[in-house]
Order: sequence, then structure tokens, then C-alpha cells
Amino acid sequence: MRKLKVLDLFAGGGGFSTGFLQAKENDLRFEIHRALEINDSACDTLRNHIGNARVIQGDITDESIKFEVINSCKDVDVIIGGPPCQTFSLAGPARSGSKEMREKLKDDPRNTLYKHFFELVSLIKPSYVVFENVEGMLSKKTDESNRLNAKQSQVIELVCDELESIGYTTRIEESLTERFQVVNAADLGVPQQRRRIIIFANRFGVDNPRLVSNTSKHRDVKKAIGKLPVRLPKITTNRLENLINIDKILSNYTYCLEVFSGYFRELAENYFDRNEDLVILSKTIETDVQSIKYHNSDKVNHLKDFLERYNRLVQELGINDKDSSDMLISHQSRDHNFRDIIIFILMKEGSNSSKFMNPLSDDYDEFLDELYPYARNKHKDTYVKHSWNKPSNTILAHMEKDGLKFIHPDQPRTFTPYEAQLLQSFPKDYKFFGGRNDQYRQIGNAVPPLLGKVIGEAILKLEFTRKTKIDNMVVNR
Ligand SMILES: C[S@@+](CC[C@H](N)C(=O)[O-])C[C@H]1O[C@@H](n2cnc3c(N)ncnc32)[C@H](O)[C@@H]1O
Repeated sequence: MRKLKVLDLFAGGGGFSTGFLQAKENDLRFEIHRALEINDSACDTLRNHIGNARVIQGDITDESIKFEVINSCKDVDVIIGGPPCQTFSLAGPARSGSKEMREKLKDDPRNTLYKHFFELVSLIKPSYVVFENVEGMLSKKTDESNRLNAKQSQVIELVCDELESIGYTTRIEESLTERFQVVNAADLGVPQQRRRIIIFANRFGVDNPRLVSNTSKHRDVKKAIGKLPVRLPKITTNRLENLINIDKILSNYTYCLEVFSGYFRELAENYFDRNEDLVILSKTIETDVQSIKYHNSDKVNHLKDFLERYNRLVQELGINDKDSSDMLISHQSRDHNFRDIIIFILMKEGSNSSKFMNPLSDDYDEFLDELYPYARNKHKDTYVKHSWNKPSNTILAHMEKDGLKFIHPDQPRTFTPYEAQLLQSFPKDYKFFGGRNDQYRQIGNAVPPLLGKVIGEAILKLEFTRKTKIDNMVVNR
């Protein structure tokens, strides 16, 4: 078996590398020779998966780090990587932030990190290069207009030019002009909509592979996470009186408590892994609600007591510890407040807040419209409840800040890190290091391993064809 050596730049928690390690073609495989990454917890994750000696922790812009990379990677065959490009992203402040924020992002040093990627490529000169990035890159304007004919050239063309200028071919097979492709990971079997730009480059002057999309390969959320054990959130009770729109909850107190207890009744009756503890939980909540809802005075304190009893009971019954193998350690919900829990329960599966606030939509809900706590003139789609029967939306590193765009289809919470990991097609036993937020960030930033595998196999095929041709020429001489 022959192994092609890979250098993974901006390796994060190792999504791209994991995919390359899964790729095979005849007797060809990859080994991750080195992975460069700056972040502590991402490096811990990498060390656990590819071994300490293969991880270079440091800043790619640092000369001593570059020196270490060049020295240890003289004979690598492939360089892969996706530099972080803050303003390239279609999601986040680069698009929706204030003018001031957008100006600040323009000067963000992260936007020039890709140049260091090319510097290393030009010094190491591997046979193959794969550059991955967010789709927003297509529209980013560059300041280097002197290097280009068109005034408003796209960074992506610059990236291809850069590779061509150092001896690489970026042309894609069966096309005269295409040098990059936009791929939706869902079309390759990842249970998630995730559009990414991929550039292949090789030093042999041959056409690069085209990744073939196939919508019949779509996998839905249910397939990816539908069999995981139930996880219930802890409901926050501190400063409940200050929660935005708590007054609307309290003036519809009986209704909210019935929504809550009705949800648990259904969960205990219908959930696929219904169990005795869910039944006990649902019955206790129901009894509690019966006694509480007739209280008219001091509802805040009643609600606080009620939620604290719920939190205690979930813990005492060990509901979140069921099936807690090592693998599922990160399958735990973050805490949520009661208003959000009511919103999560009442939202329709597959719907979002711009729909529940739109009187013309079938999903319009007057009470949810009242409960919406954010500025409507800025963001209307803050809450997104996923469908079971579709691939998920793009899993974002932003999940480390809040998960409201990632509400579970029928549990009153947002996706756990473990669910995000499976929706990104990471192996079931892949372990991310760091706290919950570090994990969300590594997962959201990653190239889905399955996409990495498809890319890796395309390169192995190219290499196999090239090698076979050379071998045949030698035989025929
Ligand atoms: C988009 S993520 C890459 C994810 C990775 N390709 C994967 O599949 O898991 C970009 C990574 O670049 C790292 N990074 C940012 N600035 C860096 C720098 N100056 N030097 C090295 N790594 C850096 C970030 O910590 C982040 O993990």
C-alpha cells in the first residue's frame, strides 16, 4: 500500500484530515504527515486523532512556525486547507453587521491568511493542492486590482491565478474555463446543506476532477440523529423577573403551563425511546401544573419553584444520563430560559420565526409573535426549528454563541455538540476537546469528513491514473 503524505493547514478539529484518512483508491491511501493549527483545544483534538508528533501548534504568519512546517514537510504530496476568512462568510456580521463592523472586518488580518497558505505551497511544491472555503468568498472584492484586469475581481479568481503562477493547473475536466467548483455537501451524502468552494490544483498539467452532485444522496436529520437518547435542557431560573417578555408568559400563565405539561405528556407517550422515567416526569409535571395554575399571586416565584422542581426531577431521574457511553459525553443540552422553551415547543417542525411572525404565513402564531424578544427590524429569522425529513441547515461555528437557529425537531432545546458532530458527518466515536463552546466552534468550522473523503478519493483516482500511465509507458519502452 502506498500512502500519500498530507499537510493540513488551518486544520481545526480535523474534519478535512479525517475525510482524507477515510479515502481509498486501489492500493492508495493518505497519511496526515503534519497538521498546523493555532487554537489550543483544536490542537488537543488533533493530537488525540493523529498523534502528538504530527501536530504543529502555532501561527502560520510566524516565521519560526513557517520554518518548522517547511523543514518537516519537504516531501509532502498534498497540501489541503481552508483558511478562516471572516468577511468571506455569507453568514454573520460580514453581511448583516453595522457599517462600522463591516469596515473593521475589512482590515481583519484573517482575511489575508490565505496568502500564507500560498507561500507555503510555493515553497513546498506538493503534487496536489486542495483549497476549501465558504461560498461568500465568491463575492469578496480584493484590493489587489493592479494584479487583475477587471476592477472588481473576485478573490477566488485571484486564488486560482496565484496557484497557476507557481506552476499549478487549476482547470477542471470537461471545461475550458472553470477553475473552481461550488459543492453542496448535502449532494454528497452529508445530512446538511453546506455549500463550499473547492479548488483542486496539480503540478502535472492535467485536468482536475469534478465532484459529481447527486441530490438522491440526500440524508435527513432523522437518519443522522433520530436514534439518539432524549436529552432535556436545564431551565434557567435566575432573574426570571427580568426575562424579556416574561410579562406575556405570566399573563398567559395557565396556557404556558399547559403547553409545557402537554409537551411532556406527548413525549412520554410517543417518543421512540419512551421509558418509565419520562412517564414519571410527565405525570409529576402534570400534577404540579394542576396545583400551580390556580395561583394568581406572585406567579414569578411559583414559576421559579415549578422550574426548579422540574430541573431537580430531570436530574434525580437521570434522564440526561441514559445511554451515557463515552461516545455520548457531548450529547448534553445547553441551558435554556422558559420563554425560549415555550417558543421551541409551540413552533412547528421545519418552521422559523419570520414565519410565525408573518400573519400571511400558515405558520403564523399570534402568541409566538408576542413572545419574540428581539428587534424585528433587524433579524426575523432568529429561531429556526429543524425538520426531521430534510438535511439540516449549515452547521455554524456561531453555535458556540447561541443555537437558536438549530432547534431540535421535537425536543425543546437546540442541537447538542454531539448532534452537530453527526450532522457534520464526523464518525460516531470522534472526540472533540475543550469546553462545549470550543467543541461547537471546531465542529462548525470543519470540512465535513464525508466531503473530505470524496475530495481525497478524487485526488487518489487522479494519482492512480497518472501512476498507471507512467508504469505502462515504462513497460512499453
Ligand atoms: C475554517 S477552520 C478550518 C477547519 C478545518 N479545515 C477542519 O476541517 O476541521 C480555520 C482554522 O484556522 C485556525 N487559524 C486561524 N488563524 C490561524 C493562524 N494564524 N495560524 C494557524 N491557524 C489559524 C483557526 O483556529 C481554525 O481552527
